[in-house]
Formats: sequence, structure tokens, C-alpha cells
Amino acid sequence: MKLWGGRFTKETNQLVHNFNASLSFDQKFFEEDIDGSIAHVTMLARQGILTEEDKTAIINGLNGIREDIKSGALAIDEEHEDIHSFVEAHLTERIGEAGKRLHTGRSRNDQVALDMKLYTRKEIKEMDSLLKALLKSLLRIIKENTDTIMPGFTHLQKAQPITLAHHMGAYFEMFKRDRSRLHDIYERMNYCPLGSGALAGTTYPLDRDYTASLLDFYGPSLNSMDAVSDRDYLIEFCSAMSIIMMHLSRFCEEIIIWNTNEYQFIEIDDSYSTGSSIMPQKKNPDIAELIRGKSGRVYGSLTSLLTTMKGLSLAYNKDMQEDKEFAFDAIDTTKGCIVLFHGMLDTLTFRKENMRKSAEGGFTNATDAADYLVSHGVAFRDAHGIVGQLVLYCIDKNISLSEMSLEEYKAVSPVFENDIYDAISMETCVSKRNTVGAPGPEAMAQVIGIYEEYLKE
Ligand code: ARG
Repeated sequence: MKLWGGRFTKETNQLVHNFNASLSFDQKFFEEDIDGSIAHVTMLARQGILTEEDKTAIINGLNGIREDIKSGALAIDEEHEDIHSFVEAHLTERIGEAGKRLHTGRSRNDQVALDMKLYTRKEIKEMDSLLKALLKSLLRIIKENTDTIMPGFTHLQKAQPITLAHHMGAYFEMFKRDRSRLHDIYERMNYCPLGSGALAGTTYPLDRDYTASLLDFYGPSLNSMDAVSDRDYLIEFCSAMSIIMMHLSRFCEEIIIWNTNEYQFIEIDDSYSTGSSIMPQKKNPDIAELIRGKSGRVYGSLTSLLTTMKGLSLAYNKDMQEDKEFAFDAIDTTKGCIVLFHGMLDTLTFRKENMRKSAEGGFTNATDAADYLVSHGVAFRDAHGIVGQLVLYCIDKNISLSEMSLEEYKAVSPVFENDIYDAISMETCVSKRNTVGAPGPEAMAQVIGIYEEYLKE
């Protein structure tokens, strides 16, 4: 059934129908379409625009359709243009005349704007809870590893010793910001477009505040032209998902590096690894690589949506139908990646001895050796030069700073005493760093307390 056949004298060309149709993908929000229609008729009846009998018949009919689609009794066939036409056609088929009154004071433009918002709102909440679950696992790893020493890197070169807890804490911060971005989007988007009509509102005395409250919106949207053509919240959501994917991708990159034979900082569980068809020894980090790869796909959705919306005159244009596949794909991809990543992270083995050994090599304590000299009265710039000489000496001898004898130290600077060894031990390097946000135990304890409170909310 068509919702608009009246003024036409010819049948639609089949290719045109296929090209124009969105049912193959907008069926994803059939429940939101039904929820929106129920709120709409509830309001219409309250306003005296529809009789109570019609309202009841429509609501029962819609709930029947919902159940039948869910159970598979009602198949969504391709004959209809979109989910709105599909539901309305089946409603009229089931309840007769009353079904034809459902669309009073409504256009598909405000209807689709509503459905998409309801769907997005639900997905934002779901994504937020997936991120929260991931953060709980991260916090567990943080708490278990406040004294697991590893090298911290800059330029992928060993820099200073840190702890695994501190490293994981960086990702905790990233995913925490991701949640706050989702929250912001929700707050901004949560205004109800229904009642905006095609673009200019309607002449019926709709109670838009009531409809908005029935659907848990903060209130009605305030400009009907904007309401039917606003897709900002989808662009923002795709942007937030792109950032989530960027964070996952960075984390995956580290997992891939740490899992190499050269690093051996971690071992990905067999259940999250794959093998090679030719090389029997291989155990590949495919899941981490795929998540990293899929970030490109989500960025693609963002770029596509921005490009689709660019240059569209007010108000609704059919171009906007393209929003759905981009958004749905980005949502499904991002959710899938969070879940897979979470599973992989939960089953990782951290090879703590290897991390520690790696931290001990590579002169990660050179800054602390310089700080030792400074605390004994040497100017930092001179201290920097002296430790530079020590490093050169060690490289030549193929030893670490802690393997030098006191005589060797004294030969470069008489300031060194026996307590240098304690000053440059990995434990000292980490435990002395207690400024807020640093890896030292006091600093970490404070932050862990904040994270625990945050996850209780
Ligand atoms: N399938 C359409 C979409 O997704 C529904 C709105 C149709 N409105 C119209 N004026 N043709 O945008």
C-alpha cells in the first residue's frame, strides 16, 4: 500500500520503488514506530481529535502487529515503501476505518524524525552501559596492578618506568570521556519532534508537551522546520563513536605490539586468537586488528553523514533517508567492537616479569639518576650531561645503570654515593611520583577511590 497514491495516474516504475524504498533497513525501528504511534493517538484522543474507541482499537491493533512481527507471524515484506507504510497498512487491514485515522495531524517527516530519535536514544543508553562494563574490568586490572612495573613509552621508545595500573588508567580516562560525550548528546537531542508535521506544524490542537512526556522527552522541539530536518544528533553520535573506535584502536595497537614475540608483555587468550592456514606456529591477534580496522568504517559513517547533510535546504529532503544505514552500521560496529574488546581484555594474561625486565633495560631510570644529582646540589643541566655520559658508558659495556659499580659512578662524578642504587631502583622511580595523576602508589590510590565512586553512579 502507498501512503500517497491519490494524485497519481500511473503506477510507480518498479526500479523507482526499489530505489526509493527504505523498508529493508528502517524495519530496524518498527518498535519505535509503534511506540510513537501509540503516544500520538493517546494524545489525539485526550485532545478530542480521535474517539476513545478509535484510540483503543488502534493501540490494540498496533500492539498486535508488534507481537506478530516479534514472533515471526508477520513477515516484513518488501512490497511497502518503508516501515511507516508497512505498519499503517497492516493496521488498517486488521482494524479497518480506525486505522486510517492514525496519521491525523502527523507527517512521515516528523514520524521518521521521532523514530530515529527514539532508536538512537536507546542505542546511546546501551552503548553507555557497554562502556561502563568495560570500565569495571579496567578498574579491576588497575587495582590488581598498582605495583606491576613496566616501561612507559614516548615515541615508542622506553622513557620512564610506570605501572600497568597507570597505563590502564589512561584508557579508563578515555572511555570515561566517551561516556560523558554520549551523555551530552543525549541531553541535547532529547526533545520530541512529533507534532512538527511535514514542516509547518498542524492546524489540529495537538498537545505536544503531553506527547513529549509520554515518550520521555524533556519537552517538544521548538521549531518545526528544524525538527523534521535535524540530524545533528546522529552526526554527534557518529563523531562520539568515531572517538570510541579511535580509543579502542589505540588500545588494540598496544595489545598487538605487546603480544609480539619481541615484547611478550601479554598473551592473548586462545579463545580470542586465530591461527594461520600455513604457519603452524602462529597465533594471531586478529580480533585486535579487526577492531583497529573497523575504526575506519565508523569514521566513514561520520564523513558520509556530514557530506549527505551538507548543502541541504530546509526542511526535509529525501537525502536524509541515507542517514539510517550509516548510523545503524556505525552503531552495530561500535557496539560489537566494545563487546569483543571487553572479552579479549578480560582474558588477557599479563606477563609481569617481562614487563619489569623491559623497564629495567633501556635506561628508564636515567631521569631519576639526574634527579639524584640535583638533590645533591648539581644543577639540572649539568646533571643531564653527567647521566648522558653514564648512559654512553653503559651502552658501550652493555650493562644497565644499576649494574655499574660505585667506582665507575665516581669516575664520572664524585657526587655519587652508595644510595644511588636505591634512588634508581624501579620501585623508587615509580613510588616517588605522587603528583595527582602520576603512577606513584599514593597518587594511584586517590584516583582509584575517585574511579570507584564514579562507577557506583
Ligand atoms: N523513509 C523516509 C526517510 O527515511 C521517511 C520519510 C519520508 N518523507 C517524505 N517526505 N518522503 O526519510
